[in-house]
Amino acid sequence: MAERLVVEHVSKVYPGGNHALRGPTFTVDPGTFMVLLGPSGSGKTTLLRTIAGIERLTSGRLVIGDVVVADGRVHLPPERRDLAMVFQDYALWPHLSAQDNVAFALKRHRVGRHDARRHAMGMLDRVGLSHLADRFPVQLSGGEQQRVALARALVGDTGLLLCDEPLSNLDADLRERMRVEISSLVREAGATTIYITHDQLEAFALADQVGVLQDGVLVQLGTPEDIYATPATLFVARFTGLAGELEVTVVGEGKITGHVSVQPVGIDGARPIEARVGEGTGAGAGAAPDGPLLLAIRPTAVRLCAAESEAANLVGSVTDTAFRGRHYELVVDLAGGRRLTGVLSERRVPRGTPVGIELDAAGCILFAEPEPGPPGAAPEDAEPGRRGGAPAGGAPQANGAASATRGTERIQ
Ligand SMILES: Nc1ncnc2c1ncn2[C@@H]1O[C@H](COP(=O)(O)OP(=O)(O)OP(=O)(O)O)[C@@H](O)[C@H]1O
Ligand SMILES: [Mg+2]
Repeated sequence: MAERLVVEHVSKVYPGGNHALRGPTFTVDPGTFMVLLGPSGSGKTTLLRTIAGIERLTSGRLVIGDVVVADGRVHLPPERRDLAMVFQDYALWPHLSAQDNVAFALKRHRVGRHDARRHAMGMLDRVGLSHLADRFPVQLSGGEQQRVALARALVGDTGLLLCDEPLSNLDADLRERMRVEISSLVREAGATTIYITHDQLEAFALADQVGVLQDGVLVQLGTPEDIYATPATLFVARFTGLAGELEVTVVGEGKITGHVSVQPVGIDGARPIEARVGEGTGAGAGAAPDGPLLLAIRPTAVRLCAAESEAANLVGSVTDTAFRGRHYELVVDLAGGRRLTGVLSERRVPRGTPVGIELDAAGCILFAEPEPGPPGAAPEDAEPGRRGGAPAGGAPQANGAASATRGTERIQ
């Protein structure tokens, strides 16, 4: 039965003083597929291993279902936490066949050997591997081994499934097929899932909820759509895909509420751009902030037009054109040394062609420059309730009420 997971102010300091987790707090509802996204070293594996009970937390609390599995005093071992794990390196028993690897997972459920092997065969069938049930791991491909690992994780009907980059060792084509399989198998099983990746596309494709980790801090939690539309910080915006960034100054109010009109700095031929005031500007929702700002541009906001078009906010010239099957992806260099990547085009545009760029306000988000409030400082030191009005490089950002109303939770 799918369990609820509650993670409260979890902190992990490794021996030697490395502070890998700085207070992530969130709840995962039963049956939810949550993806933890973050760059290398951001604490993803540490958080997963802490939830699993492989690592002890330094402070905080973890609850699975109705059971407090870890806090300052309690530490239940992994086998008493009703969870299963899938690892990057499959971690199958080398001396057991595929079927016995899966059946082994039922041992702690006190299922008889015959029944365990029967259930295991059924599960292997669901992952499309019953014909290879007698093979040993060494006789299976990487993708097949990962399917066995998935079957092993799902066979016990565990309440919580933890996956640590299970697809990262597979080639691109197999990765995509396995992603679809994992998504459908896990949802069919109804398990609550925590899935780690550093791949934004994989995260968005799989998740009901995405949590973004930066230096051990959960900087944003929301649906993929929330995070794409309203990234809480410049870091989140960058990590979830930008076509480019421009230095800009505010030149007036925008036509849409909560927007301003900005002018790129040092780019010849640029016209004012309608931009949404992101929460990372330190100015409060909708206010026109002072000082140098950075315009973060989502690839979805960029439309190609003629260089001489009235609609063009920017003009530049094509420096690369890549055929992607359905479309072309262009790199456009603007005057002043700025560059936009991932610009979609239906047709091939030869290198050197002058082009215009029309920008859609929905994907143009303003942030302060440099980014305020890197979560490097311990969140427990943060002043509760303080708004993100800190000077650049200042204190951690406080939880923004504005973000919560959009269904995106900002975490301190
Ligand atoms: N056993 C350990 N002892 C000390 N420090 C550790 C240990 N394991 C991890 N760390 C450190 O904790 C931080 C978080 O590591 P973690 O493995 O959780 O990152 P990650 O987000 O999973 O990264 P990756 O994407 O590379 O797998 C890193 O700075 C790492 O060096
Ligand atoms: Mg890791």
